[in-house]
Amino acid sequence: MGNLSGYGDMMNDRPRKAVYPGTFDPITNGHLDLVDRAISLFDELIVAVGQNPGKTSLFAAEERVKLVEECLADFPTVTIATFPGLLAHFADKNGAIAIVRGLRAVSDFEFEFQMALMNRRLAPKIETVYLMPNERYTYLSSSLIKDVARHGGDVSRFVPAPVVRALKEKFAE
Ligand code: COA
Repeated sequence: MGNLSGYGDMMNDRPRKAVYPGTFDPITNGHLDLVDRAISLFDELIVAVGQNPGKTSLFAAEERVKLVEECLADFPTVTIATFPGLLAHFADKNGAIAIVRGLRAVSDFEFEFQMALMNRRLAPKIETVYLMPNERYTYLSSSLIKDVARHGGDVSRFVPAPVVRALKEKFAE
């Protein structure tokens, strides 16, 4: 950085806004744990439902957004959005000072590191902030949840009730 100008920006009177992006296919208790941590650090949090080009989603974007909305209805400082293009541009356009991501294990690190550095190139003033979910959730992933649900396993300890219902409906189709 070389000087404290970026830091100065963070310390002004504007609400400190962050973006928490993900595919959320579907949202899990691990994601909720992260939202809980992020809202204690930032005045406003935008949960941004995106698409990872390397993944084929079970739930369509509108279904993922609807589930996130249902699960986060009780969080007044959280808004939900989708972003069609680049995350860095979305965060910049929305006046965010940070992108929040979860780090569950060392295996997350390489991808996250690349993404953070690329996002820094695209939006130099926005910091990526990593938060660790409760250790109860380190083994959780949306893929595992879908696999367990697809084979009729009970996922109610790992995802909120609206997601349990949505998974049942999806796999009954
Ligand atoms: N608890 C439990 N699980 C968690 C978790 C937590 N706290 N945090 C992440 N995970 C899991 C997710 O369930 C998911 O599991 P899966 O791989 O089995 O689906 C995985 O970790 C990571 O998924 P998620 O956090 O939903 O994000 P993602 O890596 O799929 O999302 C985007 C990536 C959408 C943010 C990224 O692709 C993006 O920014 N796209 C927009 C285009 C862009 O800007 N590209 C340039 C990027 S530099």
